[in-house]
Amino acid sequence: MCGIVGFTGSEQCSEFLVQALKRLEYRGYDSAGIAVQSGGKIKTVKAKGKIAEGLQEKLKEEGVPGGSCGIGHTRWATHGEPSDVNSHPIGNGRISIVHNGIIENYREIKKFLIGHGYGFESETDTETVVKLLDYYYSSDPVDAISKAIRDIEGAYALGIIFRDFPDKIFAVRKESPLIVGQGKGENFIASDVTAILDRTREYYILEHEEIAEISPNKIIFRDSHGFPITKQLKIADWDISTAEKGGYEHFMLKEIHEQPAAVRNTLSPRVKNGLPSFEECGLTDEKLKGYKHIFIIGCGSAMHAGMVGKYVIEELSRSPVIVDIASEFRYRNPLLSKDDLCVIISQSGETADTKAALTLANEIGADTLALVNVVGSSIAREAKMVMYTNAGPEISVCSTKAYAVQTAFMYLLAFRVALARGAITEEKCRELTGELMCIPQLIEKCLCDKEQYQFVASKLINAQSLMYIGRGLDYALSMEGSLKLKEISYIHSESYAAGELKHGTISLIEEGMPVIAVATQSRLADKTVSNVKEVKSRGAVVVVICKENFEFDNTIADYKLTLPPISDLLMPMVAIVPMQLTAYYTAVLLGRDVDMPRNLAKSVTVE
Ligand code: F6R
Repeated sequence: MCGIVGFTGSEQCSEFLVQALKRLEYRGYDSAGIAVQSGGKIKTVKAKGKIAEGLQEKLKEEGVPGGSCGIGHTRWATHGEPSDVNSHPIGNGRISIVHNGIIENYREIKKFLIGHGYGFESETDTETVVKLLDYYYSSDPVDAISKAIRDIEGAYALGIIFRDFPDKIFAVRKESPLIVGQGKGENFIASDVTAILDRTREYYILEHEEIAEISPNKIIFRDSHGFPITKQLKIADWDISTAEKGGYEHFMLKEIHEQPAAVRNTLSPRVKNGLPSFEECGLTDEKLKGYKHIFIIGCGSAMHAGMVGKYVIEELSRSPVIVDIASEFRYRNPLLSKDDLCVIISQSGETADTKAALTLANEIGADTLALVNVVGSSIAREAKMVMYTNAGPEISVCSTKAYAVQTAFMYLLAFRVALARGAITEEKCRELTGELMCIPQLIEKCLCDKEQYQFVASKLINAQSLMYIGRGLDYALSMEGSLKLKEISYIHSESYAAGELKHGTISLIEEGMPVIAVATQSRLADKTVSNVKEVKSRGAVVVVICKENFEFDNTIADYKLTLPPISDLLMPMVAIVPMQLTAYYTAVLLGRDVDMPRNLAKSVTVE
């Protein structure tokens, strides 16, 4: 949940650290700081707030530390409120660290250290690591790190500098991600590769408890006992433009507009001779036919993509699918067996609950398939089979293109499962796949209707609370639409199965409350319209999202957002676009920080 960066080379590094932190700010933005080896001292500048308002202002006041080796951090607070003192880097003059994760046994360690005369200034768990390293350190940093990590329980990615080693960064991790970047005469650490893409695309993935010792011209990797190991160099296939706004006002808007290309990139490599093919990961028809149950697990938007998957797989193959929220699944002793397939969906591949669900599924012996965007992420590496969604980096905290590609993949899976189980013919499968391949053009069409979405957004901005309703696939879609709106506009919003309204929730409807009714499914649209009538007659302001040729009593809709014609089954792929853009424009009109909504961070690596 925090962003880490580090640089060692020959040039002044403070400016690079700040710029790299800005690219990582989506991971956490409560506070930020840097610590630089500067003339025999470690100089630290850190401040509460976003980088531009906090850290950069403080650097202007206090001066930029000179030096060519340093570490930086952007924080999403877990222990201790966002404040200057709780910000990272945290150090004691001799050692300074940046940390992403949670030290679960920090109380015990703190007690132990207090017993040995150490004092504490911050409320963070991280400070215990600094003092523990100090306790073990005499002259060998690697020895101190090996000893400290034996005592620490929990998740951590740590970037560490020791005053006595002015051109070296040390790094170690467990659970939380960390990469080591390799440049020419300069090397790096970072929470993810986007932070250093302007300098290098070569990197190593640090594995659990491996320790890296990084100098400008050399990187040494060791295991947790300090024995040298060799690691495989990776090359990122993302370039710097993918991690920049490219003329858009926000990353969210850019990423919404990248959806056609992202969906193409997900689908194309998996369609062979007009049919979905999962050969790349060994998911054969024989396997798909044999699974007793299919589970789909994820959090937030990833889980919502799974909900669409459930409807489509069940509809086409008549086989039951269980969708679960990862944080529930992992603790409820799930009825999963070794005869089942567990599909794990995650953009980041680092979400703590999703990862724990995967570990559990692997332990039970189920087949696990990870559907992940970030190459080489923990979930991708831990699953038995992996397929990448090829969406490019998603920087905005609010997920859009990742949801689109996850959903697109759900369709491919549904088609192949149905074909493998003989529930649809090859001809039908080809037809469905062909229609799916046309989706990017239809998304492009929806993207042109900006004015419609801006107009509807202008009608939502004064709402205290609103509701999304739908049935079947429209209900699955409503969940995602409602999440988009609430997370970036801060307007309270709920999604509701339209038929459930009368069982209690309709009492919330009052004069002027917006209700967004999703009615794209021909079989169910009239039923949803009846529910719309019920809320309308109680004063709701109704927005109907439907196909352009859907005929209904227009007087019940105050506003209408229309969609290009496509089969009902595929509707979620296009219907999500108006929802994303309406949420976006609502947040913009309200002056919200669209890409970094309050209290949130991308990549939830803590429970
Ligand atoms: C919402 C959003 C989150 C994520 C969720 C899972 O816009 O972004 O709900 O979908 O935190 O994240 P990943 O997919 O990285 O596991």
